Amino acid sequence: MSGNGLFSLTDEHEMLRQAARDFARNEIAPIAAEFDETGEFPSETIAKMGAMGFMGIEVPEEYGGAGMDTLSYVLALEEICKADAAHGTIMSVNNSLFCHAVLRFGTEAQKDKYLRGVASGQAIGAYSLTEPMSGSDAGTMRSRAIREGDHYVINGRKSWVTSAPVADYVLLFTMTDPEKKHRGISAFLIDTDQPGFARGKKEPKLGIRASATSEILFEDYHVPAENRLGEEGEGFKIAMSVLDAGRIGIAAQALGIAGAAYEHSVAYAQEREAFGSKIGEFQGVAFQLADMKTRLEAARLLTYNAALAKEKCKQTGERFTLEASMAKLFASETAMFVTHAAVQIHGGMGYSKELPIERYFRDAKITEIYEGTSEIQRMVIARLETGLRIT
Ligand code: CAA
Repeated sequence: MSGNGLFSLTDEHEMLRQAARDFARNEIAPIAAEFDETGEFPSETIAKMGAMGFMGIEVPEEYGGAGMDTLSYVLALEEICKADAAHGTIMSVNNSLFCHAVLRFGTEAQKDKYLRGVASGQAIGAYSLTEPMSGSDAGTMRSRAIREGDHYVINGRKSWVTSAPVADYVLLFTMTDPEKKHRGISAFLIDTDQPGFARGKKEPKLGIRASATSEILFEDYHVPAENRLGEEGEGFKIAMSVLDAGRIGIAAQALGIAGAAYEHSVAYAQEREAFGSKIGEFQGVAFQLADMKTRLEAARLLTYNAALAKEKCKQTGERFTLEASMAKLFASETAMFVTHAAVQIHGGMGYSKELPIERYFRDAKITEIYEGTSEIQRMVIARLETGLRIT
């Protein structure tokens, strides 16, 4: 954050941010366009990010993480996403969907087995809630886990699972008691190398193309009961509270994408000439830059505030749902606004693959969709504010 704002960063925060910025510029930015084009999973850079501690920033060192706070996670993720949002997606799922869930709801044995690899980036974690017929309406899933003695047998199809084509472990939400509706959902830690687990075809996507996404299929998959995360029926609440953490990550991702598009736009406005002037000297462009910057900083305040709220709630156990949803809603819509304006300011060059502007524009869109659409965020915020059952 520039200037004398509300948030003063510690030396540790500054150092981490600088390390993430240097890594992103030197290692990720040069390969981002190529991986976007091919859609190949960037295993090598992800492994390096793991070695730098970026894949489990809030996980205590004893479990293989970096043992830092939520603001550190947000600062690092923002920098990674400035270079490439797809790397950021993989990082965010490892950190705030998989590791956060195991850390918060796991038994000691589960933490011991599942955290270390994912937090150190040697293994990839995924989070699977969505199904072909259950997206925003997450409580209506059809997949089933049936208890048989000391294990459960899982059958069903899950969709839109980030990192699924390469994941070692999946945090799965599935129905153990359909009559109880959302109170009949349970969470399980799934080893993907066991029989009965299969990966579907990779989704061809508009943006974040280097982050792999696919369906996953369960056919009589046997999971030991000790792999259940939390109690039977607690799955929906676990899914929702983990998404609260995830949504702060998506807000940080949106900030990174918007920040990159904004910086390119300022530089272009200072250089490019038309009608005998720098295009930044026209109010039409200058005022756009002013709006981009203002929204970007407002989004940053909401996102950092959500990170601080989450940090505080680690002690109190309270929810930070409102802060997370507001940050995600505003930051993702800011990313769309800023990248849209950036394409326009760059004109033909904004539409060309010779510059990363069109990639930022394509990548920004997902932040308004995954981990809860903008409509869902508005519903969550309005419900919390009014106490009414808004649908
Ligand atoms: N934390 C803890 N508990 C929560 C909670 C939260 N944030 N939100 C809701 N709950 C609890 C409620 O207290 C309630 O508890 P009781 O059963 O004790 O009453 C229970 O969960 C049900 O809550 P609601 O009645 O509000 O549930 P709902 O059916 O109306 O759904 C919703 C609410 C906000 C629409 C929710 O379904 C939702 O967030 N949908 C969007 C799902 C989503 O984000 N999907 C993205 C999946 S991940 C992804 O994108 C892919 C990837 O790989 C990254």
